Amino acid sequence: MCGIVAYTGTRQAAPLILAALKKLEYRGYDSGGLAVMSDGVITVEKQAGKLRALEEHLGDELPQGVTGLGHTRWATHGAPNRTNAHPHTDGTGTIVVVHNGIFENFAVVRELLSEKGHEFLSETDTEVFAHLVGELYSGSLEGAVVGALRQMEGAYGVAVISSHEPGTIVAARRGSPLLVCVGEGENWVTSDAAATLEHSRSVVYLDDGEVAVVTPDEYRITDLDSTRLEKTIATVDWDLSEIERGGYEHFMLKEIMEQPESISDTLRGRLLEEEGGARLGGLHFSDEELLSFERIVLTACGTSWHAALIGEYMIEELAQIPTEVEYASEFRYRSPVLNDKTLVIGISQSGETADTLAALKEARARGARTMGIVNVVGSSIAREVECGVYLHSGPEIGVASTKAFTSQIVALTLLSLKLGRLTNLSVLQGRELVQALRRIPGQVREVLGRADRVESIAEEFKDSTNFLYLGRGYNFPVALEGALKLKEISYIHAEGYPAAEMKHGPIALIDEKMPVVFMAPRDAVYSKIASNIQEVKARGGRVIALVTDGNDDLDGLVDYKITIPETLDPLTPLLCVLPLQMLAYQIAVKRGTDVDQPRNLAKSVTVE
Ligand code: G6P
Repeated sequence: MCGIVAYTGTRQAAPLILAALKKLEYRGYDSGGLAVMSDGVITVEKQAGKLRALEEHLGDELPQGVTGLGHTRWATHGAPNRTNAHPHTDGTGTIVVVHNGIFENFAVVRELLSEKGHEFLSETDTEVFAHLVGELYSGSLEGAVVGALRQMEGAYGVAVISSHEPGTIVAARRGSPLLVCVGEGENWVTSDAAATLEHSRSVVYLDDGEVAVVTPDEYRITDLDSTRLEKTIATVDWDLSEIERGGYEHFMLKEIMEQPESISDTLRGRLLEEEGGARLGGLHFSDEELLSFERIVLTACGTSWHAALIGEYMIEELAQIPTEVEYASEFRYRSPVLNDKTLVIGISQSGETADTLAALKEARARGARTMGIVNVVGSSIAREVECGVYLHSGPEIGVASTKAFTSQIVALTLLSLKLGRLTNLSVLQGRELVQALRRIPGQVREVLGRADRVESIAEEFKDSTNFLYLGRGYNFPVALEGALKLKEISYIHAEGYPAAEMKHGPIALIDEKMPVVFMAPRDAVYSKIASNIQEVKARGGRVIALVTDGNDDLDGLVDYKITIPETLDPLTPLLCVLPLQMLAYQIAVKRGTDVDQPRNLAKSVTVE
């Protein structure tokens, strides 16, 4: 995730900013940069890669000056290279900006500014904002920033300096955290108190729609109408290691809990209410091209492969395009029949998984068209494919994938919706799905709030040696994912199966020691799954069932019940998987395993 640090005071800014940015390294980033102001000139330095690369590039010659700002970038628009790294400047180099978040309408604004003669160096939304501030500047930096923000849509935390106003930082927030850290004879603006904690624990958190004008000796907070606001100074009483994980014990837990936000980020700006459709800016295929695809192949590894299975069911149901799922490691080495009527979609959180990358290269070599559903912007897979959909779910640090999985399902739903509206999905059906998607972040929050229930189940079964996970329809892949999560981090043997397949083997394992987790939301296959639960109970198995709120039908039958809110069938995996992530996490913690870095596993598998 991107990090912002800005300083104004009497000490040299560059070393302070570099040290503060390092405190934000845990958030994940792919490039860094800083800008320092001296004698009416702002020097900007930036570099792709880690901060070490920036330091090596600077050597002993740090730019001089007592006002400056810096940034670590986790790419959202444009590849993670030096040009796209922040800070960004306007055309004259007198306005310098760092930005977290996404300006959704940047393409329109960029076009308008281009018509006025502005030339852009990068592919970023931030540079467009910097130019707009420059365009509007007429004697007040604050006025120009506020004026520009009024024209931009989307989420932001921004900090801006200008050589016209030495010593002043203007910062603003909407949807992306930002705070003023108050020192003595110096002040900071940062996106994360961790960055400046060693200098001062006194902070003023900005709320959405607020602007801060900060100088070495004072700060002023206003709303976008310049009305002055009285804000309380809070004291940061956490230590650094806690802040890194947002107060959570593990990154995995943090990532599980941030799913309401990560899913919102995947959805942001992509739902079309009226048309009942989806807008996917990175999907560069024309409608005609999309309609020309006779077959879709989804290819991936691990958790991403499970998301692909859900995608297969969705694309076939909503868009009626024949779709199949392939393990990337198998696909690349067999002789798949492909041509330009086949669209091969690689799904990957990291965008670096060697087998998925190779599968896409193979597909291209065999004449297929390719696209990606990827989290890491500018990653190898993102660069390999013709076009794609980014997840925008932020860096995932825990090795066991959680929030990327739910964002992948959301991205696949958006793609299915887009394709469905081109084929056989009516406006009304489309709108119904759009509305249901809008409700998902709130429903996810609701389910995560029921973690206590999962805790007691984890306590009961933490010493089990085997687990079975069963589901049907859209929730069969969720059963696979639930079993994988448990295996990965608790080292308990677990299997996921389509519930009816149980009769063809796994039923032999069921006895009173075997916990069986059923996905049983009220969906098209509910009555079938209810029969499967009977079959397990008849053999003495211990049943944990996920059911829809208000469903008491199974009460006498199941040993443990976890409820989820009602939603449309294709979206039930988004809710069903949450208790399974929590269950795996709680059991692993109780067994004392290394949750974030389980033995033998890697976050990104770049070898085949
Ligand atoms: C590794 C990770 C998994 C992940 C898989 C695919 O095995 O440990 O969590 O699902 O790779 O990774 P990708 O980045 O391509 O989604």
